[in-house]
Amino acid sequence: MKAKKRLAVLISGRGSNLQSIIDACKAPDFPAEIAVVVSNIPDVFGLERARLAHIPALTLPHINYQDRTAFEDALLTALLPYQIDLICLAGFMRLLTPHFLQHWTGRIINIHPSLLPLHKGLDTHAKAIAAGNTEAGCTVHHVTAEMDSGDIILQRRVPIISGDTPDTLAARVLEQEHIAYPAAIRKLLCSAS
Ligand code: GRF
Repeated sequence: MKAKKRLAVLISGRGSNLQSIIDACKAPDFPAEIAVVVSNIPDVFGLERARLAHIPALTLPHINYQDRTAFEDALLTALLPYQIDLICLAGFMRLLTPHFLQHWTGRIINIHPSLLPLHKGLDTHAKAIAAGNTEAGCTVHHVTAEMDSGDIILQRRVPIISGDTPDTLAARVLEQEHIAYPAAIRKLLCSAS
């Protein structure tokens, strides 16, 4: 059997997508394992999820660094010992610049809670409802310097139902995110091998 690829999962919060990847990695045929979890926010629940799964978990508070470049240098250095094959952004709320991304071209992916290219940025569910869309969903995509714009790996769709609020729609989309992220990792890594 092929060696598993090593993932770094970057988070900023509750880490429910991280959990979906942790759970997927338990399957013997899943092509990856999580080598490290990094949060730019201290004490978030996602870090606890990593510890409960016995995965190394680092906190790298961006506010401790004088600018984006210094933070990104620290992140590059922190990842080095883990010999990472693929970075998965999972609710990581920092924009990464070309300074960081140039080292990871084709090896860094993100999940976004909309059907890209629709509704980039924040408040995607409110935007989808306000636009009168009849469906919403999530997208796993490659990360490039332009926000939420890299090539799409996989999307999953849900209906928008009459009476939906941003919260009810977010919950329906999140269920699909938890299927989409592991599926996208599998698709990417298996098509690459
Ligand atoms: C998810 O909706 C993800 O699509 C977005 O941020 C949220 C993170 O949720 N980028 P969680 O921390 O994975 O629970």
